[in-house]
Amino acid sequence: MIGVFDSGMGGLTAIKQIVSMMPNEDIVYFGDTGRVPYGTRSKDTIIKYACQDVRFLLSKKVDAILIACGTVSANALTVLRQTFDVPIYGVVEAAAEKACEFTRNGKVGIIGTNATVKSNAYVEHIKRIRGDIKTVSTPCPLFVPLVENGFTDPDDQIAYLTAEKYLADIKKFGADTVILGCTHYPIIAPVISKVLPGVELINTGAESAVRLFKEIGAKGGEGRVEYYVSDDVDSFKAAASTFLEMPVGDNVFKVDIEKY
Ligand code: DGL
Repeated sequence: MIGVFDSGMGGLTAIKQIVSMMPNEDIVYFGDTGRVPYGTRSKDTIIKYACQDVRFLLSKKVDAILIACGTVSANALTVLRQTFDVPIYGVVEAAAEKACEFTRNGKVGIIGTNATVKSNAYVEHIKRIRGDIKTVSTPCPLFVPLVENGFTDPDDQIAYLTAEKYLADIKKFGADTVILGCTHYPIIAPVISKVLPGVELINTGAESAVRLFKEIGAKGGEGRVEYYVSDDVDSFKAAASTFLEMPVGDNVFKVDIEKY
């Protein structure tokens, strides 16, 4: 059984990919909807929250964990691997590799939360793979509340103007590839593409799921996906069913994450 977690809905971008590649896999998803966003917090707080998230998933007897969150992957992966005796995968490496493979002009833009951009994790991975690639990184903190509140339509003026402002430097730089360094961002990708037409957008959640599949293969199960959240169950149910284009049914439960 695979455990997947994020600060909220963003990790569903990984779930969508896992379910399409490994339909028989049993998955436990935790979205920390009561404490989202993580990306505006300090590294210490991100590590504390991530440890609680992992302890909760381990209580469900998962045998591998995917951190479907750019912020946690960029700031806490090393500590989590040192602390817990279970294979733990993040999203940074897979996305950095994909960007290096896709770029034709050697210019890659990186967008993510404040904490992710500050960590420099994507840039470091890219430089390790291809030292010649030039990068520009921009934090886009308002994208997360826009996604969590459903402002994702390219015709939505609030979403569009926010994206136009955030992406101006990357547009000027001329990146042909942009890493959506936060797993929430693919949900707002139509707005990003409207501002950056023709630019390849790397979906970190989906790429990390592909990588997970390559690393551990399908374990096989009954294809049961259980969702746990730390805040309102009904709003998550509605938003998740729309995003995943499949009903999440009664498989959404509330958990008191502070107990872990
Ligand atoms: N989905 C997240 C990420 O990938 C977290 C956004 C947030 O909580 O700030 O970074």
